[in-house]
Amino acid sequence: MGGSDKPTFGEQFCSDLQTLFLWRRDVRRFKSEAIPEGMLERLIQIGCLAPSVGLSEPWRFAIVADPARRKAIHACFEACNAEALRSQRDDLAGVYARLKLEGLQEAPAHIAVFADRTTAQGHGLGRRTMPETIEYSAVMAIHTIWLAARAEGIGVGWISILGPSRVAEILDVPTDWTFIAYLCLGYPAEENDTPALQREGWETRRAPDSVIVRR
Ligand SMILES: Cc1cc2nc3c(=O)[nH]c(=O)nc-3n(C[C@H](O)[C@H](O)[C@H](O)COP(=O)(O)O)c2cc1C
Repeated sequence: MGGSDKPTFGEQFCSDLQTLFLWRRDVRRFKSEAIPEGMLERLIQIGCLAPSVGLSEPWRFAIVADPARRKAIHACFEACNAEALRSQRDDLAGVYARLKLEGLQEAPAHIAVFADRTTAQGHGLGRRTMPETIEYSAVMAIHTIWLAARAEGIGVGWISILGPSRVAEILDVPTDWTFIAYLCLGYPAEENDTPALQREGWETRRAPDSVIVRR
């Protein structure tokens, strides 16, 4: 792949892109409808266009279709979530208990994302003082997939309420791989421009101005 024909992005595209950013949601409620054949692979290909430290492309993807492994992942979530509920402050426990924090059983497609710190690709460039840039790179791929999926009308839900070593064991991936995310994908059962956690009274978005310091 290559080429130097410079594309231009018109006003309409920029406006649509802004709409995509606004409507990209973390989705936990899915329709049972399957996503088209080859779509997961296509989304992963797009994810691989993401930036990575030293062009290391350290992202690794496990497409999880095996029912027994999916069941084990769900059991892992249940155990971790029960533990998380027990650790909530008294005033938040009631709201937490009502939150839907995964769509594992409804989502037709599952992808676990890992990062490989041992990769020789990139020859270590950019990660001597910050080895964690390998994991950051995998997150870049996830966000790219998230947006590309939404543009296709497909919702993505990121699950982190899992035990990383248990996930690696269930999925039988190389021990060098670091677990980054478990993604559920499918057509959303509901669409909204506001995060579910805000709608459910858990948290609100802060003003972008409040995250900027000037020096
Ligand atoms: C690193 C990361 C981990 C997350 N883990 C979970 C999770 O375990 N369960 C869940 O329901 N949502 C999870 N989310 C989704 C966030 O709750 C969600 O992105 C946030 O509330 C903002 O909502 P939005 O993505 O719809 O804008 C995660 C998101 C990120 C980026």
